[in-house]
Amino acid sequence: MRRQRRYWLGVLGGCLGLLLLAVPYGQAHKVKHTPAELKAFQEVFLEQVRLGDLLFHGDAETERQLGVRLSRTGMACAMCHPFASDTHPHEFPKFQEQMQEFATLREMINWCIENPNEGERIDPNSPAMKALEAYIYWSNRGSKLDPGRH
Ligand code: HEC
Repeated sequence: MRRQRRYWLGVLGGCLGLLLLAVPYGQAHKVKHTPAELKAFQEVFLEQVRLGDLLFHGDAETERQLGVRLSRTGMACAMCHPFASDTHPHEFPKFQEQMQEFATLREMINWCIENPNEGERIDPNSPAMKALEAYIYWSNRGSKLDPGRH
């Protein structure tokens, strides 16, 4: 009888211990950010949008700074995609007819750099790619996520 009670107390203790361990992780996303933090996050994001906007419009100085050559035809992304129209970031990933492949947005950005633009494809994880992605997503904000759509 005595041993049994000790056993159950041990089990209870173990459970409480696990619960205490789990609480800080479970709450990680529930901690509210301060207005100052939110403003700082937004500024980081908008800085990327601004950079991407410059690249999208063929700004030579920004290309030089980031070490990329997005076009050799004199055509900037924005000439065919004004305000990032027809870039459809919310539809990726999807089967891409031009590539005959299942593709991500980044792969399609590189397709446009190499094909209509005759430029040099960029590292998918490069600052230039992140900035282009930020600008394209920002320009299409509010679009409903619809992966795989044509
Ligand atoms: C000469 C015109 C032209 C230029 C310049 C151009 N594109 Fe495109 N882009 C196209 C065409 C054509 C397509 C294929 C449209 C389709 O899929 O229906 C396309 C498709 C895309 C798509 C995929 C859209 C989809 O839903 O399949 C993305 C993303 C894109 N372009 C980004 C860019 C970026 C970034 C640049 C600049 C580096 C750029 N494009 C420059 C003509 C152009």
